Parts: sequence; C-alpha cells; structure tokens
Amino acid sequence: MIIYRTKDYEAMSRTAAAVMAAQVIADPHSLLGLATGSTPIGLYKNLIAGCAAGDLDFSHITTVNLDEYAGLPGTHDQSYRYFMNTNLFDHVNIDKANTNVPNGQAPDPEAECARYEALLRKLGPADIQLLGMGRNGHIGFNEPGDAFIAPTHVVELTDSTIDANARFFASRDEVPKKALTMGVGAIMRAKRVLVVVSGADKAEAVKAAFAGPITPQVPASILQLHPDVVLVGDEAALAGLAEAGC
Ligand code: F6R
Repeated sequence: MIIYRTKDYEAMSRTAAAVMAAQVIADPHSLLGLATGSTPIGLYKNLIAGCAAGDLDFSHITTVNLDEYAGLPGTHDQSYRYFMNTNLFDHVNIDKANTNVPNGQAPDPEAECARYEALLRKLGPADIQLLGMGRNGHIGFNEPGDAFIAPTHVVELTDSTIDANARFFASRDEVPKKALTMGVGAIMRAKRVLVVVSGADKAEAVKAAFAGPITPQVPASILQLHPDVVLVGDEAALAGLAEAGC
C-alpha cells in the first residue's frame, strides 16, 4: 500500500486527483470506478480544472459508480446520479452514455443489482476504483456485518450511516433506508484502489481498516488483501494510523 499524507483537505484533493489524472492520461479509454460523498468533491474539482485546462480528456472514459439510494430518481438532488452529474459529469467532456450508476428507481432492486453486476463483469475490472470510507469502516454501502458480500446487492443502511447522511436531507426521516451497492467483489477486482479520507472523525476507521484485523465488521479492512491500494489522507484522518506505526 502506498500512503500519501497531506497537510489538509485541499492538498489531499490535489494529490488524489493527480493519481486519478495519471490513469486518465496513461489510458484515455480507462474504466474509472467512482464514489460520491463529501470527501471526493475536491478531487472532482481538480479533475474539472484539468479538463478545462486541456490536460485531461474524458471523451473515451467509461465510469461505474459504487452505489445509489433505493427509491430516489436520478433527478433528486440527493441521488448519487445527480451528485455525479453536478460534481463531475456536467463539467467535463465525458459522454454521459458511458457513465453508470445503479438505478435507484428500478421497480425490482434485486434485478437491478443483477443487471449492474453483469454490467460490471462485461465492462471488466475498473482500472482504478475510488473509495471514501464511512466512520464505521464502510466502503460503498458495504456496511459492517457478519460476512463480506461480493456481488452488487441491496443493503439496509445502519443507523450510523443514516445519521451521517441526514445532514443532506430536510429531516432524518427522509433519508432512504436502503441502497444498492457494488459488493466487495468488484472493488477487489479493480486493478488499483484509491482511498480518500479527510478529518479527525475518520481517524479511528482508517486505523481499524489498515492496522487492525481483516473483518467484515470493518468492511474496508478487506483492502489489506488488495495488491495495489493508494491511500490519500490528510494528517487528521491518518493520525490513528500514524499512532499504529504506519
Ligand atoms: C459514496 C460511498 C460512501 C462514502 C462514505 C464516506 O459513494 O460509497 O461509502 O464514500 O460514506 O462519505 P464522506 O466522503 O461523505 O465522508
């Protein structure tokens, strides 16, 4: 694992964007696995700037997103499709037909998970998979549990995740209780995994994930088995890992 420790969120965003940009430059036909959440927003801003400057070309890039809330249409301002459009896709020269997010409004969520998993298999492993990390160690919406789940699946969100996401909705009651998520299978098949973390509230999760036992109780801990992980975090988020001697 490569660890880049940065001063703050802005530096973390620039460094992580450079890792992603290197992939886009090295192979303009790359398959990028993307994530939502507050952590990658700065990274996406840097990619948008790179595209505006003419340094990055997304015209042949394909993307697969990790997850989507069940029940929200792509036009809902808290859906992950909407997030991706407004934070990245609307501002770079990507063909939206080549951008993939699970369909949260599919009438049969299980069938939608099967469709998405087949699509992931067809497109092949992501050249790079971007991940944020929840305070409970979740990746995508793979929540702590008794087992790692490999394929795309429907999840019941934990109270901790609903609490963390409530800030984006008018009230906690409006936060969807289920989501569709890529499983750890497609994440682990990615050729490279880029994890971004920022802030002191992630320090314990980062320490547990990378310096603790590999357990489904800390879903991100499975990344210890991946041969090419790049962890980019600011000092606050990496403080626990530093304590553990990493
Ligand atoms: C987002 C996702 C989540 C987030 C995680 C961290 O697509 O899959 O696992 O990466 O909840 O979110 P932030 O970055 O908001 O702390």
